[in-house]
Amino acid sequence: MKILVVGGGGREHALADALSRSSNVEIYSVMRKENPGIAALSADVYICTETDIHRVADYAEAHGIEYAVIGPEAPLEAGLANELTARGISCIGPQKEAARLETDKEFCRNLMRDHGIEGCPGYQAFHDPGEACRYIDAHDADLAIKPIGLTGGKGVKIMGEHLDCAGAKAYIREIGGEVVLEERLIGEEFTLMAFVDGTHLVPMPLVQDHKRAYEGDVGPNTGGMGSYSMEDHSFPFVTDADRNRAFAIMEKVIAALNAEGLPYVGFLYGQFMNTTDGPKVIEFNARFGDPEAMNLLALLTSDFAEILVKMAAGTLTPADVSFAQQASVCKYLVPEGYPDAPQNGQRLSIGDYGDAKLFFANISLKEGVYYTQTSRTLAFVGLGDSLAEAEMQAQQAAESVTGAVRYRRDIGTLEVLEKRISHMRDIR
Ligand code: AMP
Ligand code: GLY
Repeated sequence: MKILVVGGGGREHALADALSRSSNVEIYSVMRKENPGIAALSADVYICTETDIHRVADYAEAHGIEYAVIGPEAPLEAGLANELTARGISCIGPQKEAARLETDKEFCRNLMRDHGIEGCPGYQAFHDPGEACRYIDAHDADLAIKPIGLTGGKGVKIMGEHLDCAGAKAYIREIGGEVVLEERLIGEEFTLMAFVDGTHLVPMPLVQDHKRAYEGDVGPNTGGMGSYSMEDHSFPFVTDADRNRAFAIMEKVIAALNAEGLPYVGFLYGQFMNTTDGPKVIEFNARFGDPEAMNLLALLTSDFAEILVKMAAGTLTPADVSFAQQASVCKYLVPEGYPDAPQNGQRLSIGDYGDAKLFFANISLKEGVYYTQTSRTLAFVGLGDSLAEAEMQAQQAAESVTGAVRYRRDIGTLEVLEKRISHMRDIR
């Protein structure tokens, strides 16, 4: 079976790695810049901008691709799933109209409101900077400021955290006034992802990302510095009831999309803030999270290609999906200066990384030498029977790398987990 993987980051390396564990799969890949990890697993690599949907579809057709799995959001927004489907190629990744769940934050909030789905924070959408700024002046609580369109996970600013009132207004003007302003939620974040076959959702273990650049959750937002999941597939600061409510919200969102004539086949990423009133939706992504995909695909024990085939057929059941009862910790190594002034073209050497899994991201390999580029470089995933074991494995692997890269030592540590537990205890 020929499967095309679209995208060239750590997430797509994890997708290709999971597929390489399935039998009878031949992997083809399309990416803007060659990812050496994906290339090593592929029968053929096509270097092409992932949003150039006609060229990608031409390539897929020419190579007899049967299934395509789309990693990043940009090709979803550009309509790659529409184009592939039109050419008879089964696509794991929603059509662009359904991907608006991620690519248009106003669409997402309106869908939740119109279908009476719980967990939607108070919000208001604006298309004019003056009106948005007047709303800020008239409103005396802190707000989350979200550009309506895609920003690579870096566009959200929180008043009282990143910005004061004057800064908020300046930011709204800078981005042109296309914003959703919403209630600032207080609590602890968690991510619940699901495989969606059009109508049925099968959940994955809970996972938590770290958006901030520096230890202690400070500094600018990034694409995600690392993530962890626990051996029981939940978190001590999330109750079963919280998790069930979050999953029910996701099921209702897929039902709402279907009611709007927008069937959804793909991975659904639900980011939640667990608040005193239970889980509220921060956002949905129409794809696997990056880095979260690396944690969960490393834990997946069932056949990933079979899952994709059943997703495309609309016949996925919970019995098709299982994950190891282990903890996972993923640490991204990023160039010094990332995200504001990343040091590009720096030589790296990777030492003995033990039993950790290595996933390449934005890295180049020239004559046997690795170099940084401008985005996240590579990641290690440690697995273990406890979080401490998984963290140690990832940490030791990260230490094996020398060069102008850095990472967050605190991700997956018990200290950080304790902080989240006690914060949740305080607010509840
Ligand atoms: P997003 O790009 O939507 O994932 O948002 C980036 C980060 O902003 C999230 O991980 C949250 O930490 C924060 N955030 C987004 N929306 C809200 C909100 N309504 N209240 C508080 N924090 C938020
Ligand atoms: N890790 C968050 C994201 O993929 O958007």
